[in-house]
Amino acid sequence: MVDTETFVPDAIAEIEDEIGDENAVIALSGGVDSSVAAALAYEAIGDRLTPVYVDTGLMRKGETAQIRETFDYMESLRVVDAKDRFLEALSGVTDPEEKREVIGEQFIREFEREAKDADADYLVQGTIYPDRIESEGGIKSHHNVGGLPEVVDFEGIVEPVRDLYKDEVREVARHLGLEEVVAERMPFPGPGLAVRVIGEVTEEKLEVAREACHVVEEELEEYDPWQALAAVIGKATGVKGDNRVHGWVVAVRSVDSRDGMTARAQEIDWETLQRIQSRITGENENVARVVYDVTHKPPATIEYE
Ligand code: XMP
Repeated sequence: MVDTETFVPDAIAEIEDEIGDENAVIALSGGVDSSVAAALAYEAIGDRLTPVYVDTGLMRKGETAQIRETFDYMESLRVVDAKDRFLEALSGVTDPEEKREVIGEQFIREFEREAKDADADYLVQGTIYPDRIESEGGIKSHHNVGGLPEVVDFEGIVEPVRDLYKDEVREVARHLGLEEVVAERMPFPGPGLAVRVIGEVTEEKLEVAREACHVVEEELEEYDPWQALAAVIGKATGVKGDNRVHGWVVAVRSVDSRDGMTARAQEIDWETLQRIQSRITGENENVARVVYDVTHKPPATIEYE
């Protein structure tokens, strides 16, 4: 476990040391890792840090508003509305890895513009230990690790939480006084809801996934899952009122894990599962079925793509 009493001042001193009198940028994702990295860097260099939040349209419900609220104290915060540009770039793309690439590239484009504008010499990243391991192992292209440094010409990269596991980052978040909702927020993939809709990303699927993820997070809170999510995995027949419909199939997943590298599907009681089912099918008339995923990791991954 990390000793926050020494970790925090050491990390701040290290950032000060690395960045000196120059400017830096950080991409805020809404997750705890980049939030902690940003808070540490802001302590170190104040408004010479420009935190950039790109609203990709692939975010969780209420995430953008949450970001604005949490980082309100940072005057240099920039919120970029890039929803339409991401949807357009993703139009017609169905291959999971290609989706990641398109999102990564679009993200770089958005971020590069802001970094230039902020005259930033350094990039601060919220990369944590498991990100590095998975990326080095080539399991998946995690866009928060690859990409940015190669394309945008920075003098240096600063990764203040690079040696921490997720639960350690949460401890630091609490120590820094970040709001509970940020400190406790479940991990969320860089490509966002795009990896929770199988096949092409459309506004309709995203809306179903976003609402369903929100229901799942709310209803499963008492199970304290490491990660709980919903994904739009296809279409199937259902009956709504007197009509047969061809509606969305939503998969619900809730797992325990320490670091995301392996995970166990949680045992959820029937009543809770039924409540989730009834809320998801009730709130969206185009959802025909809700299924619960009982697969551990391995053999499945946590996300669907
Ligand atoms: P998987 O699906 O590989 O996910 O079992 C393991 C953990 O990583 C998150 N994840 C990602 N995070 N970029 C990220 O920043 C990605 O491309 C990505 N893919 C998966 C996932 O949410 C889980 O916590």
